[in-house]
Amino acid sequence: MALLTPFLPCFMVAMKRSRNIVILTGAGISAESGIDTFRSAGGLWEQHRVEDVATPEAFARDPDLVLRFYDMRREAIQTKEPNPAHLALARLDREWPKRDGGQVLIVTQNVDDLHERGGALNVLHMHGEHLNAWCLACDSRPRWTGTLIDRPPCPVCSEPALRPDIVWFGEVPYRMDEIYEAVAAADLFVSIGTSGAVYPAAGLVRTARELGLQTLELNLERSQGSAWFDETRLGPASEIVPAWVDELLG
Ligand code: APR
Repeated sequence: MALLTPFLPCFMVAMKRSRNIVILTGAGISAESGIDTFRSAGGLWEQHRVEDVATPEAFARDPDLVLRFYDMRREAIQTKEPNPAHLALARLDREWPKRDGGQVLIVTQNVDDLHERGGALNVLHMHGEHLNAWCLACDSRPRWTGTLIDRPPCPVCSEPALRPDIVWFGEVPYRMDEIYEAVAAADLFVSIGTSGAVYPAAGLVRTARELGLQTLELNLERSQGSAWFDETRLGPASEIVPAWVDELLG
């Protein structure tokens, strides 16, 4: 039935008072920080085949290729800085609870740390993090800023069994129970900078709609799930995200 009223007037989302907010972010929020998106023209998946670098099968077949790919990405993200969209969400995260005790949770598909470096506190990385390694011997997840290609020993168990702590295609995203619980307790679901091509993240808007949340999309172009949103605002994240946060915080 949601498709019968796909786009409510713009003022609807702003007018209805929201207490708890879940914000889903994707590669588009980090694009203006100089980090490649995946599916845009010239994006990462045009430069590399997913099957070669982002599946458990690829890692089993050619670990050097996969480790080198993620070593380069890990090195690159450490040279990038948060942009005004990350800073605005961090401001919302800090200031919103002071208003009337409402909660903000940023659920990110991004594996960079720009939300945290921008100052956000409540961030959940559903697709893992570049700056973590995952030890396949002892299951620890040590902080990791260097390379993995040289097969360094795990700082916890000393086994040379570290892989990138990235959720590859065919693997299960992290902390889905927590994410669904947060959506169930929220009033507003906002999606920023994601194409809506990858599930289960892409299905969260539908869950939110079915639970009666207001839904808002902020993106450069309409995402694949655009019809599920009450409202869509199009533009670069560095402009439309700070404008939306200013509006919310008054
Ligand atoms: N501002 C806002 N949105 C932008 C900007 C920008 N400056 N630049 C690009 N976008 C939008 C694009 O229009 C696109 O809709 O960001 C979206 C990026 O989409 P994808 O490249 O598909 O990235 P994402 O949705 O995060 O991918 C999801 O797929 O490959 C996997 O695990 C990977 O987490 C990733 C997941």
